Amino acid sequence: MCLDSQGRCWPVRQVLLFISIFSLSSVFGQVTYSIPEEMSKGSLVGNIALDLGLDVKRLKSGKARIYTGDNAEYIELNKDRGVLLVKERIDRESLCGQTTPCALHLQITLEDPIEFFTVTVEINDINDNAPSFKKDEMKFRISESAVIGAKFVLERAMDLDVGVNGLQSYSLKPTDNFHLKLQNQQDGSKKVEMVLQKHLDREAQEHLSLTLTAIDGGDPQLSGTMRVEISVLDVNDNAPVFTQEVYKVTIAETAPKGTVLSTVNAIDADQGSNGKVSYSITNTLDDVPLMFKIDEENGVVALSGNLDYEKAQQYEIHVQASDDGGLTDSCKIIVEVTDTNDNHPSINIMSKTNSISEDSRTGTVITIFNVEDPDSGENGKVSCSIKEHMPFLMKTTSKKFFSLVTDSELDRERASEYNITVTCSDEGVPSLSSSVTLTLQISDVNDNAPVFERSSYEAYIVENNTPGLSIFTVKARDADWNQNARVSYLLEDSSVNGVPVSSYVSVSADSGVIHAVRALDYEQIKDFQFRVKAQDGGSPPLSSNVSVKIMIQDQNDNPPQVLYPVQTGGSLVAEMVPRSADVGYLVTKVVAVDVDFGQNAWLSYKLQKATDRALFEVGLQNGEIRTIRQVTDKDAVKQRLTVIVEDNGQRSRSATVIVNVAVADSFPEVLSEFTDFTHDKEYNDNLTFYLVLALAVVSFLFITCLVVIISVKIYRWRQSRVLYHSNLPVIPYYPPRYSDTLGTGTLQHVYNYEVCRTTDSRKSDCKFGRAGSQNVLIMDPSSTGTMQRIQSEKSILDEPDSPLEVRHL
Ligand SMILES: *[C@@H]1O[C@H](CO)[C@@H](O)[C@H](O)[C@H]1NC(C)=O
Ligand SMILES: *[C@@H]1O[C@H](CO)[C@@H](O)[C@H](O)[C@H]1NC(C)=O
Repeated sequence: MCLDSQGRCWPVRQVLLFISIFSLSSVFGQVTYSIPEEMSKGSLVGNIALDLGLDVKRLKSGKARIYTGDNAEYIELNKDRGVLLVKERIDRESLCGQTTPCALHLQITLEDPIEFFTVTVEINDINDNAPSFKKDEMKFRISESAVIGAKFVLERAMDLDVGVNGLQSYSLKPTDNFHLKLQNQQDGSKKVEMVLQKHLDREAQEHLSLTLTAIDGGDPQLSGTMRVEISVLDVNDNAPVFTQEVYKVTIAETAPKGTVLSTVNAIDADQGSNGKVSYSITNTLDDVPLMFKIDEENGVVALSGNLDYEKAQQYEIHVQASDDGGLTDSCKIIVEVTDTNDNHPSINIMSKTNSISEDSRTGTVITIFNVEDPDSGENGKVSCSIKEHMPFLMKTTSKKFFSLVTDSELDRERASEYNITVTCSDEGVPSLSSSVTLTLQISDVNDNAPVFERSSYEAYIVENNTPGLSIFTVKARDADWNQNARVSYLLEDSSVNGVPVSSYVSVSADSGVIHAVRALDYEQIKDFQFRVKAQDGGSPPLSSNVSVKIMIQDQNDNPPQVLYPVQTGGSLVAEMVPRSADVGYLVTKVVAVDVDFGQNAWLSYKLQKATDRALFEVGLQNGEIRTIRQVTDKDAVKQRLTVIVEDNGQRSRSATVIVNVAVADSFPEVLSEFTDFTHDKEYNDNLTFYLVLALAVVSFLFITCLVVIISVKIYRWRQSRVLYHSNLPVIPYYPPRYSDTLGTGTLQHVYNYEVCRTTDSRKSDCKFGRAGSQNVLIMDPSSTGTMQRIQSEKSILDEPDSPLEVRHL
């Protein structure tokens, strides 16, 4: 098809048809031909002879000429054939430009006759020119913010062809953002504009390249193109966009300052400063700005403070990214702080006992304390313990409360103070711990009795001590404390030989020193026992006792006592030795005793003086006086021996005894000889007599008074009894010792012996016996040679080896 702007169609063949129509009608010299331009040289334009009705010969004869005027000779006349031919290529565009119709006006002249013919050759346009643009391309710089409907004028195209072959339309491709708008102008041309129909987006397409095509209406159609290059100018139409909305970071609470947590990244699609992103932290209320910092340029988030899991386990950092145009985006960084075992457990004592009694029950609470570990999980799980081997137990009351209780019985005497170190450690790795030391005093209870250092005591004291002498010290210890351990000593009541022991000894209550109260006499008491009690000051007090035995040591304080022969002032005892006595005849035996003990009582007998030393000897050990030679008639009747008895004590004591021996066969002989002895002592005997007499008188008066007093007493008693009872006979009371002796009126000595007889002098168990009789020797000074031997005494003395202890009352 070949539609032009008016919708008409021009087929090529029609040109030829048009020529033929005009040829037929130009009888008077006018012919019109219509040919297309650009026909090749020699192409037939028209059969002019025929069309003008002329004979070919006429043309020749007529010297037909063609006149083209100023125009170049495009057309030539072929007189031979009578046709017009194209002489030169005809370009309608250069011939006529845009003028239409375009025609060549020719005149053909003939001579003979002159004839004048007008030939018009219409040159028809053929589509030989494509539309064209002056420039190959047009450049635009359009902001991406250009509004829809914005118009941009494009260059128009030119098409030399006319009519339907001329420029017909434009097209612009692609049509994504722009469409073409053609506007008819007054001069018939068209204004070509491109109109923005969709927003430009630099970020999507920075450069657009469009093609503007101008199309003519020829057949075939021709077209020309021009590139329209559009640079899209950036506008800050894009906000920065974070690559992630939420970042999650985990960091240990011990991370040092400067540790990089994360790098946030925001992308801004814009260009240049519009696309330059800077980062900032926008938190304001919390302490995030202190804890974290962000690099403005590159978005590196780092730690700037010290984390503490115990204060904050999580942070939310709000980060803003902004470009220079003020567009922003934000993201969140969630920082999880992980716990590190960086806290020691802290022990707080809530209640505390500094001292408990040693009799406290098992399970008594000593201390309650609370343990805090701010760490979490295992790092904050705390357990407490104490050193082993302590009578205490750690009890867990709840997760954080512990109590320390006694676990077994306490004994202040074993341990009076405990330093209890409580150690609490968490279960972190490595574990952290802290400890506290409690000092617990165990207070005393009086649970220990005093204990004597020895189970019994024995002590010696030498007799004849000074009263008040300290004998020795008993000591008891008390394991308790202070008052409970203050021991005082007491003498337990007992009696020794019927006398309270306290009259023998006393105990100093404070010191336990035992003093003798009185002078002790070994001859009276050899030992005695008593108990001393030690008592502490507790309440109630505890006590114990110990037996103490005091042994009295003998001193040589008694001289030997001669029992036989009895020495009296006035009396005279003589042993008779018959003149026929042999050598070794036992004259008599000196019997002496020493009430002391042991060596002190070990007696020896020596002859001190003798009338005739050659006649007698004394047994050193036994005191036997024997003859050592035959008695002769020359020997004096009266023999006087002085025997000294010595004990074996340290400072020996002695006694002397005079033994009279009568060497005679008959008693009268003796008497005659011995009167001398008595005369010598006449004065002495008289004195003795008077003394005895005086004693007897005094005794008699005393007894009489006593009898009178007692009689009066009894009389009064009887008087009172008679009033109530029957009348019993009054028995007067006479001390027995005096009744007998008074009768004789010759009392000289009264002896009362208590004889203690032992086989071993060291043994203390004595059998006391009272001598069966009172040894009373009565000697009339006027009578001589009277001798009495008391049988009972003799029997004892017959055993000279057995030691005798005589208690002299
Ligand atoms: C307990 O500690 C104190 C002071 O540190 C010390 O003087 C005392 O001897 C200790 N006691 C024991 C039983 O260790
Ligand atoms: C002395 O102690 C014994 C036990 O050692 C006790 O049996 C006795 O009763 C105590 N005597 C006195 C008088 O306290």
